[in-house]
Amino acid sequence: MSVNSRIPGFYKLSPADRFKAVVELTGLPESELASLTQPAPDMLSIADRMIENVVGTLSIPVGVAANFTVNGRDYLIPMATEEPSVVAAASNMASVARINGGFFTSADQPIMISQIQLVGKKDPYGARLKLYERRDDILALANEQDPLLVKLGGGARDIDVRIVEAGAGRIYVVLHLIVDVRDAMGANAVNTMAEALAPLVAEIADARVRLRILSNKADRRMARVRATYDAAALGGPDVVDGIIDAYAFAAADPYRAATHNKGIMNGITAVVLATGNDTRAVEAGCHSHAAAGGRYTSLSHYEKDAAGNLVGTMEVPMPVGLVGGATKTHPVAQAAVKLLGVTGAQELAQVIVSVGLAQNTGALRALAAEGIQKGHMSLHARNIAVMAGAQGEEIEAVVAKLRSGGHVRMDRAHAILDEIRQGA
Ligand code: MEV
Repeated sequence: MSVNSRIPGFYKLSPADRFKAVVELTGLPESELASLTQPAPDMLSIADRMIENVVGTLSIPVGVAANFTVNGRDYLIPMATEEPSVVAAASNMASVARINGGFFTSADQPIMISQIQLVGKKDPYGARLKLYERRDDILALANEQDPLLVKLGGGARDIDVRIVEAGAGRIYVVLHLIVDVRDAMGANAVNTMAEALAPLVAEIADARVRLRILSNKADRRMARVRATYDAAALGGPDVVDGIIDAYAFAAADPYRAATHNKGIMNGITAVVLATGNDTRAVEAGCHSHAAAGGRYTSLSHYEKDAAGNLVGTMEVPMPVGLVGGATKTHPVAQAAVKLLGVTGAQELAQVIVSVGLAQNTGALRALAAEGIQKGHMSLHARNIAVMAGAQGEEIEAVVAKLRSGGHVRMDRAHAILDEIRQGA
């Protein structure tokens, strides 16, 4: 599927017209995307099969980010988020990146790690080497657990055995099973393997096994992104310097880094959620990577090229999949994947990191230029107007007065609405 992600005036259309535009641009049958606009009639029973004790479902807005080009290909990107300005900021920065070809990305093979913890060893170093001696037996047993994965070209690839000194005399031998999970997120595959391996590993090491679970520090499954943002389109050299100062602040100060990275996750999590992937797994991976050097820092990096343009780069773990889990069972996630048109987990990972970088640059640009509240305020004012009871044409009238007065608050919205209704 090839699309043109530039859709002039997209934001001005109604949701129904935006949906029509998206259907036309993708050329997909409307039925394949319909779940984006209409809840599935059997959603409650689908939900009941997904988790326990279901009583209902929660609707989160799904917007489509425009203007994205990743490795020369255009994407329309579904983003599920409750936060105003996120989709607009990502789309704006994608249009600036597009001037210089968009986003350029790469991704590691889809490798996940499962941990098996061995306790109570008096001679952990000896046990460690005994495990390496039986590497082939361990890998063979792991691969017996998932013949389909092996048939698809994945499977257990290697082991790594670590000694973890936890203090108070506790020393653990920790076996890492390194598994290529292909197009799955992989948690189920690697957890099954770890549980099945436990008796063999316990026998080889002559030790008791405790935990057998994946690591969310998915640092063998990195996705990387690079973009060059035109200085003039960003607002000029001072805005570029402001973004670099904002980045340097985050790189040096964990208090600022947490907020900076939260901005990145605004983009990443929105696509991860829209595609039915595990938002917490991705967030755990990204934040653990931000602290990988021993101090929590910025996930992204900014510098200027010889022409004074802004070069943004980022490298984060991206454990997402296209098979299994909510991606396959949730109708909106299925439609979101169709809309994206990605065919593999590594491609999805690369689109997601592009959105994360665009989101970060958008937030830093706003912070370095007009401040973040201006963009937030128009949608916030609309929410406040609706919550105060404004209907139909009253909404825009209340929004205009709220914004011109400079105080976007519920008490002011009520007062303005009263005035409008008394005047009518
Ligand atoms: C708000 O959701 C995200 C920002 O705080 C990110 C940042 O400060 O970089 C605007």
